[in-house]
Amino acid sequence: MKNILHIISSPRGEISASRKLGKAVVKKILKKYPDAVVKERDLTKKLVPVLEEVHINTFFSSPENHSPEQQLINSYSEELISELKEADIIVIDSPMYNFSVPTTLKAYFDFTSRAGYTFKYSEDGPMGLLDNDKKLYIAFTSGNIYSTGPYQIYDSNVPYIKHIFGFYGISDISVFRAEGLSIPGIMETSMEKAIDAVAID
Ligand SMILES: Cc1cc2nc3c(=O)[nH]c(=O)nc-3n(C[C@H](O)[C@H](O)[C@H](O)COP(=O)(O)O)c2cc1C
Repeated sequence: MKNILHIISSPRGEISASRKLGKAVVKKILKKYPDAVVKERDLTKKLVPVLEEVHINTFFSSPENHSPEQQLINSYSEELISELKEADIIVIDSPMYNFSVPTTLKAYFDFTSRAGYTFKYSEDGPMGLLDNDKKLYIAFTSGNIYSTGPYQIYDSNVPYIKHIFGFYGISDISVFRAEGLSIPGIMETSMEKAIDAVAID
């Protein structure tokens, strides 16, 4: 039985385009693995805090020395990391917001990128600590087009997310894009085409 983790990052609720694409990916995964269990991590419901000094001090100190506030911080971070470890398949929704991932997602990476948990440094440099047999699907949406054409040099989100998960040890990554969602003539069909193109390997 597969465990699917669906990470939602857009605060736009039911009208969110990235959530729609991510849900379509989950639906197709369920067609292939009908017994799979889906866990939703909606980063807009229980916010991951923006990194402050207390968070960094928590992540770089021994749990025995944690204050009650730091215990809560550490347990939320560990909860997020456990979900990643338990998942066989991860679906991550990412709209482009101001040429980057939404703040919710950046905060999530700040709470899950932890030495000894998701990566470590060896003599050969950084090493991912998540099992390499996991599959990651990225559901990316944007107003403009970044996969081809003049704005390709601004294709920030997809390479960044791939890099973070690669750093955690996951290399089997597929990307689905609904782009041009603000461009007349493209926006009308972009989502439908993206959903049609979703193929689960
Ligand atoms: C706050 C905000 C910032 C955005 N910034 C960009 C951007 O930098 N580049 C772009 O191509 N589209 C941008 N867009 C358009 C979104 O990427 C696009 O509408 C996306 O599908 C929204 O996904 P969501 O509905 O899941 O939030 C922005 C939209 C919002 C709401």
